[in-house]
Amino acid sequence: MQIVHTAAALRTALADTEHSACVPTMGNLHAGHVSLVELAKRHGAPVVASIFVNPLQFGAGEDFERYPRTLDADCARLAAAGCDLVFAPDVTEMYPVPQRYTVAVPSAMANDLCGAFRPGHFNGVATVVLKLFNLIRPRIAVFGKKDFQQLHVIRELVRQFNLPIEILAGDTLREADGLAMSSRNGYLSPAERIQATQLHRALEDVGAAVERGARDFDTLAATAARHLKMTGWRVDYVAVRDTGTLAVPKPDSTRLIVLGAATLGTTRLIDNIEVSLKA
Ligand code: PAF
Repeated sequence: MQIVHTAAALRTALADTEHSACVPTMGNLHAGHVSLVELAKRHGAPVVASIFVNPLQFGAGEDFERYPRTLDADCARLAAAGCDLVFAPDVTEMYPVPQRYTVAVPSAMANDLCGAFRPGHFNGVATVVLKLFNLIRPRIAVFGKKDFQQLHVIRELVRQFNLPIEILAGDTLREADGLAMSSRNGYLSPAERIQATQLHRALEDVGAAVERGARDFDTLAATAARHLKMTGWRVDYVAVRDTGTLAVPKPDSTRLIVLGAATLGTTRLIDNIEVSLKA
């Protein structure tokens, strides 16, 4: 596996490549990322993983500085997973001049769900992903479903800008107790780690009620949020949405998703579960 740090070296490494599949990451990789590389390998070659902690998508007071930088361990994992090339630029390589041109995600999406609590986050994600796509020029790109709103934003980015890239979605990998794998789980104290599974369980409870026929989504979501708050979480949102549009479900929506974001101690976690209704 080759590791490159500059756009020029990346261009050279990919000179004769037409069908690459890319897996953009911020590093601190876990089994969930490995599963995205495996998915990429089934659809394109070579597989290019990027590792870049993107300052543009972090707000003031968020964890940009403390986000774990674990390049050597990440490269060992990627090599074992069969990744062919790693692009690991530093901030000046990705942003050699101040990034004055940015992608403006429509405010209905940029300021909804996670966007309501992380102003500018999705503009920062869309901007760096567009830059990574232009640098890597992949035919396939793989993103995890755990960041479902991000996946939606990137699908729209590709559609709106006619990018010749197929977006594949990788399923969320979970720990044995149901906690969604996330680089941020490492921030949790042992006690918080035990408690963290409550977020997933709260979303499952909402999903189960919806499957049983409940349709008062706001009440279900508010009840789940209240239970989480009672056990010490600071809840940003719990919401039931249409999986395809991420909008509030219509009466004929058959694919729904229950999404939640909440903070335990100083660690903000997100998760979601999909629910299919019988038509
Ligand atoms: O999901 C992530 O790790 C990041 O948001 C991404 C897509 C690599 C952009 O920085």
